[in-house]
Amino acid sequence: MPPKLLPGFRDFYPDQFAERAHIFETWRRVVRRYAFQEYDGPPLEPLELYTQKSGDEIVGQLFEFVDKGGRAVAMRPEMTPTLARMVGARAQTLRKPVRWFSMPQLFRYERTQRGRLREHFQLNVDIVGESGVLADAELLSVAVEIMAAFGLTAADVRARVSDRQLLNGLLAHLAIDATTWPAVYAVLDKLERQPLDVSAEKLAAAGLPPATAEVILGFATLDFATLQARYGHAPEVAPHVTRFAQYLAHCEALGIGAWLHFDLTIVRGLAYYTGIVFELFDHVGEFRAICGGGRYDHLLASVGGTDLPALGFGMGDVVLGELLTARGLMRAPVPAVAVWIAQAPESPLYPAAMLHTAARLRADGHAVEFALREQRMEKQLESSRKAGSLATIVVDATEEAVCYRARAAGGPEETMHTLDALCEWASSTLKRTDPSHE
Ligand code: HAM
Repeated sequence: MPPKLLPGFRDFYPDQFAERAHIFETWRRVVRRYAFQEYDGPPLEPLELYTQKSGDEIVGQLFEFVDKGGRAVAMRPEMTPTLARMVGARAQTLRKPVRWFSMPQLFRYERTQRGRLREHFQLNVDIVGESGVLADAELLSVAVEIMAAFGLTAADVRARVSDRQLLNGLLAHLAIDATTWPAVYAVLDKLERQPLDVSAEKLAAAGLPPATAEVILGFATLDFATLQARYGHAPEVAPHVTRFAQYLAHCEALGIGAWLHFDLTIVRGLAYYTGIVFELFDHVGEFRAICGGGRYDHLLASVGGTDLPALGFGMGDVVLGELLTARGLMRAPVPAVAVWIAQAPESPLYPAAMLHTAARLRADGHAVEFALREQRMEKQLESSRKAGSLATIVVDATEEAVCYRARAAGGPEETMHTLDALCEWASSTLKRTDPSHE
């Protein structure tokens, strides 16, 4: 028995690869519209890059080992620490704000389940060097516009947004000691998935009086307008409410207001977030998070050695792929053979005439295939049909001359007497049938 695929890892057969390519191409197309530049880093990093900053959940899932030189290393489970190091190393010379994106393959030893594998590709979009909320709005706009580019609407996907500073202000206003905030965060994070009495018990165990615990449990349904009316004048909360209102106004102006849903239960597991945070979910709540990110203003100082504000998000290919397939939006045809070339093996100049024709058409940018071994003409034509070719060209060679019988799928047969005429035919005909030649 040959060794099996490792659990949580994927083979990409051409059908699946086409889906991956569709996702990658759409990501790139939208992100470039926002003038982000692509970068990459190494897939293997020093272990300490993650143990210091990523947070316990990710650290517990590391693929880590000691290399032959005795170094403690880990396969990258996320891109953000690498980005922080890279920007930090050139912080003096890079134009600010830095607007970078990457599409790394990441590795986490997760419990494999729907939407969670042990490797995934993750679009990372980050802005470094800007502390204002316009950057936060711009960032969310990229994520939302990607959804729209895949054919999803505000009725399919919801951007759930919170703000850690605003939440901290609220907790301070409610006279909750800062040492208890992590326990409150943990309860908020699970509020949706955990029975209410369990959450209440956990808040009580953290030392919250029942009335305060009641307020926290109410955060699940607290909308921004109510929050503003109820707490907007409290000194610990007021500046954050003003800032968040500005953020919302920018999001409206960027045309993404309809997607946005204020939600204080969005906490984000990663340890480094400091400000506005968000996650994108399907509206029905059928799938896990499509995307998550937010502001992490102190990570560059601690990893990159340069104090620069930063924000970004990661969007994986797994949940997104599941959602697109479920909504009938995964349009990812495997690239077709544009031209199949056939020549009777008993004819003169076989296979040179066929190969010469193939070389010319390939030079013109067409995807060309022919039989790699001698085959009867019927067999070659059958192969062309099976390959789903957009056109079939039969090369008819005699001792004196070569001519070409060409037929586009569903069209009439046309005969050409020169290779130039054939190339012209191919360019005009395949332009009509195969958009990739436009
Ligand atoms: P994250 O929330 O850990 O954030 O991951 C972001 C997204 O990656 C998730 O919403 C999910 O779609 C996908 N994802 C994560 N783990 C897996 C997995 N095991 N299998 C499939 N998909 C997965 C981060 O990683 C942050 N570093 C993102 C970021 C960038 N923040 C700022 N810049």
